[in-house]
Amino acid sequence: MRQTKLDEFIELEEQNRELEEKIQKEIEKNRQKEQILFHQSKLASMGEMLSSISHQWRQPLMEINSLFLPIEIKLRGNKSIDNDEVLEAISKLNEITKYMSNTINDFKNFFSTNKQSVKFSLSTQINSAINILSTSLKDNNINLEIIVKKNPEVFGVKSEYSQVLINIINNAKEMLIYRKIKNPLIKITIDKKEDIAIIKIEDNAGGIKLKNIDDVFKPFYTNEKKDGSGIGLFMSKLIIEKNMAGMLSADNTNNGALFTIQTPQNIIK
Ligand SMILES: Nc1ncnc2c1ncn2[C@@H]1O[C@H](COP(=O)(O)OP(=O)(O)OP(=O)(O)O)[C@@H](O)[C@H]1O
Ligand SMILES: [Mg+2]
Repeated sequence: MRQTKLDEFIELEEQNRELEEKIQKEIEKNRQKEQILFHQSKLASMGEMLSSISHQWRQPLMEINSLFLPIEIKLRGNKSIDNDEVLEAISKLNEITKYMSNTINDFKNFFSTNKQSVKFSLSTQINSAINILSTSLKDNNINLEIIVKKNPEVFGVKSEYSQVLINIINNAKEMLIYRKIKNPLIKITIDKKEDIAIIKIEDNAGGIKLKNIDDVFKPFYTNEKKDGSGIGLFMSKLIIEKNMAGMLSADNTNNGALFTIQTPQNIIK
């Protein structure tokens, strides 16, 4: 009798150990899956960025092309040229190339592999995300309203935070276009309460069509999109809540969707 009890106990212990091992393996598998998703989502936004850069460069390239045309015509026709005219063209050229180089900087920052957490100002980060998206917003006549109530700092990996902003703003843009909304608008409000930085991103695209709005953060949930992969928001939530100890939530308003990002200004990791 005693023996059986001991046997049972040993067997139970053994089962416990096996279970523990299984759990550990599953946790590890999950972690690897998350990493793959993270990589995929970054690649997807990289495609987005590349097309946006080539888009943003087309206009200045054309300007450069035509900048020296009047001067060339005069030179070829052996007409006299004013020094000021040449200097003005050169200063315009400098301006244009500076703009082009800024676009590349935004791009570089976005994809930087620097995973170091630093303190950074929210408005600067929003500006660089908007620089990346501004041309496609303009092309689609989408109005962008930015309200800076306070300009808090946050602590985290800059490029990851940009990725979140771009995901959310892009989703709003895509919905405004897909649903052919009249007077499309994206409103971004930056604020701070106590030590928490708060960004609200609001659109008038009609809102999230889900009974349980939180399901929007589930991996692979995608709706009303041509090539949606459904990982943008899942990844964004992971970045804000796991890496930055913050909170990302979604709500519907009267006119559309509202995403709120809350992150502490200081976290000790
Ligand atoms: N601002 C919004 N208004 C209405 N629906 C939205 C909004 N943002 C997201 N959604 C819904 O949530 C879904 C999930 O968004 P998510 O960004 O995770 O994936 P996706 O945009 O479909 O694909 P991707 O992985 O390429 O971003 C979208 O397909 C869309 O149906
Ligand atoms: Mg998306």
